[in-house]
Amino acid sequence: MSDNKIIVTGGMGYIGSHTIVELVNAGYDPVIIDNLSNSNVSVLEGIKGITQRKIAFEEVDLSDSNACREVFSKHKDAVGVIHFAALKAVGESVEQPIRYYKNNIFSMINVLEALTTHHIDNFIFSSSCTVYGEPKKLPVTEKSPIQPATSPYGNTKQVGEEILQEAMAIEDSTIRTISLRYFNPIGAHKSTLIGELPLGIPNNLLPYLTQTAIGIREQLSVFGSDYNTPDGTAIRDYIHVVDLAEAHVVALTRLIKKQNKSNYEVFNLGTGKGNSVLEVIKSFERSTGEKVNYKIVDRRPGDVEAVYADTTFAREELGWATKRDLDEMTASAWAWEKKLRGQ
Ligand code: NAD
Ligand code: UFG
Repeated sequence: MSDNKIIVTGGMGYIGSHTIVELVNAGYDPVIIDNLSNSNVSVLEGIKGITQRKIAFEEVDLSDSNACREVFSKHKDAVGVIHFAALKAVGESVEQPIRYYKNNIFSMINVLEALTTHHIDNFIFSSSCTVYGEPKKLPVTEKSPIQPATSPYGNTKQVGEEILQEAMAIEDSTIRTISLRYFNPIGAHKSTLIGELPLGIPNNLLPYLTQTAIGIREQLSVFGSDYNTPDGTAIRDYIHVVDLAEAHVVALTRLIKKQNKSNYEVFNLGTGKGNSVLEVIKSFERSTGEKVNYKIVDRRPGDVEAVYADTTFAREELGWATKRDLDEMTASAWAWEKKLRGQ
């Protein structure tokens, strides 16, 4: 068994590609499994430009149980799996619930079966702060109550966590799992060789903002200014994608070194700081010198008012904390957008 081979499902995607770079930096040997449903094979070139390494890539749909079985038998010498592969558009999941459940839940089950078959014992799951819904108390700790999911996408994360908790609780489970609850990842690698590649009209704030600033979109809509927050716009915990990527390496290493305190652990990954939509726009304008054409419109249905992380547990147990501030996030998102458009 090779002692540093890691399977990264969804490794061609936004967070996955940044994590591949940090895995290589840390001396791991990642293999990507991805069906390219929301990514592009050119990502491999970007990763190679940063790491000088050609990363093994398997184009496989993990919701297909035979295909999943086959690709895992090829890489059964892996010591861990980071499972990013999922569809993630909240609105689309409301329109196409079956597609979302099939893709996200089948994939996870197939991957877990493969781990069991091949005794690959270390598993990291991409979860989301969406599980906290509209929190009653801020910041949210890992023990804050889970609220009923408001979309099929959110439910795939909740159900995913429940499946893992139950599967890790059985006595003869040799698998150790960490669920990482991401807050709002934004920004891009400083090389501008990898970043977020939204297909079509972006739903998320940062890609919409940078596409507006570069002239692809006419105007950014700020969804609601009547929230009970200092400037009336909604608050989120924006985290630099490279900080997030580094956390995956720390969590994986914790499992491989058997430093985990139980077979199923959960960590919040955020900065601990909440910023409003208007603060993000101001940060962007400050860090780039560009102006954003925006207008305040009605709230977006389903949005929560405010959510940000209590980071104590991640800091004390994982020994991990974010290093990059909001201005670095917005500046790097802009540098990436310009690179994408050849500017
Ligand atoms: P992304 O869409 O950029 O990356 C996901 C990757 O998974 C894509 O490359 C896609 O092609 C691949 N994929 C999807 N279904 C697959 C399948 N059946 N088989 C093989 N590959 C498949 O998304 P991301 O932003 O990098 O998110 C990664 C993970 O983090 C997802 O699980 C997402 O739900 C979760 N997450 C993301 C955010 C966020 O704001 N970006 C927040 C919380 C949680
Ligand atoms: N926003 C705007 N205008 C836009 C887009 C967003 O004002 O064009 C606002 C939203 O109303 C929200 C904030 O910017 O207040 C952030 O919105 P995003 O869509 O970027 O992110 P969300 O917090 O809504 O959701 C993200 C992911 C979900 C995930 C959730 C929690 O998109 O997949 O974080 O992890 F579930």
